[in-house]
Amino acid sequence: MMQSTATHIPFHKPFCAPQAERTIQSALRSGKWAGNGPFAQKCRQRLAELFQGASVFLTPSCTAALEMAACILGIQPGDEVIVPAFTFVSSASGFALFGARPVFVDVDPRTLNLDPDLLEAAITPRTRAIVPVHYAGVACDMEKIMQIAARHGVEVVEDNAHGLFGSLSGRFLGTFGSLSTLSFHETKNVSCGEGGALILNRPDWVEKAEIAQEKGTNRSRFLMGLIDKYTWVSPGSSYLLSDLNAALLWANLEEMEPVQRHRLELWERYQTGLRDWCRQHGVEQPHVPGTARHPAHLYYLLLPDLEKRQQLMMFLRSQNIQAAYHYQPLHTSPMGLAYGGGEADCPVAVAAANRLIRLPLYAGLKFEEQDRILELIRDWSWR
Ligand SMILES: Cc1ncc(COP(=O)(O)O)c(C=O)c1O
Repeated sequence: MMQSTATHIPFHKPFCAPQAERTIQSALRSGKWAGNGPFAQKCRQRLAELFQGASVFLTPSCTAALEMAACILGIQPGDEVIVPAFTFVSSASGFALFGARPVFVDVDPRTLNLDPDLLEAAITPRTRAIVPVHYAGVACDMEKIMQIAARHGVEVVEDNAHGLFGSLSGRFLGTFGSLSTLSFHETKNVSCGEGGALILNRPDWVEKAEIAQEKGTNRSRFLMGLIDKYTWVSPGSSYLLSDLNAALLWANLEEMEPVQRHRLELWERYQTGLRDWCRQHGVEQPHVPGTARHPAHLYYLLLPDLEKRQQLMMFLRSQNIQAAYHYQPLHTSPMGLAYGGGEADCPVAVAAANRLIRLPLYAGLKFEEQDRILELIRDWSWR
């Protein structure tokens, strides 16, 4: 394959709001660099408005927010937590760290989200939580999942790493479960390098969450002047985001509207621009169920098989375009197998891992660059 000399289009470039240098300077000068500082409070308030008044805790990552969720739920050895087989490691590892055994369930072939029809069979008396992941920010079938969880008295923790600004039937993703988590990793729509948040939809758990976030101490009550010294009261860790990161997050949150508009336009241009080619070549495009609104977090295609996916990746690479595959099935990973993943039957997750390719999608991607990607794919055909 001939290597093109055309300009390189990366898979991803982080968005940085023009005012970020100013907010970071201001955080630096304030001397308040620790967690829950002035910029963190602004971000928490903004996110709480988006999440209908939920309590928001900024964390160092989505992984940390998932661990914090496990801590708040009091997850212990012997507990089981249901996760989709097609997800990032943290959906399972955050709970495994507290001793839970992840139980892997296959995903729906249309959305690559936890298949609610397979859920009930995976529930046992030891099940403590279900962790649905809104893949690509496209909503899981939350109605069914919440019904099943309620029937069995099991908590729902939404791993909403992809789904900030996504919704289902007009309701924001992350407001269905008792707890949900966000990621502000460099690759996410809104980012501060590394960062995350825990969204708490249970007002009666606020104190538990404050303790979990503050190393297991009641320091928050001390800071509020409710006690004269603080001490170690229950399990917890350091789940706080530095205010220097929060300053970048705040600048980027303020610019979210134009960023989202552009991302959504790019996503639609991929979807319409590739529709005919996909039909002709047996390639599947993302499916967005009727009342779901996604935030254009990522755009993917499902090629007919692994070989064709690899061929397309290599072809794009030869044209200086970086595409990416995504998760490897978690139940077949060494840790997944150690937790009994060998018994899980998840053919859809395995197929998705082999067939999926993600195309460049970021705020700085220009339409002319996207047109080049679209034309190259439409002119390409495998042998
Ligand atoms: C579904 C899902 N959950 C959790 C994470 C972990 O996010 P973070 O890097 O913020 O810990 C990721 C990472 O991309 C993810 O895709």
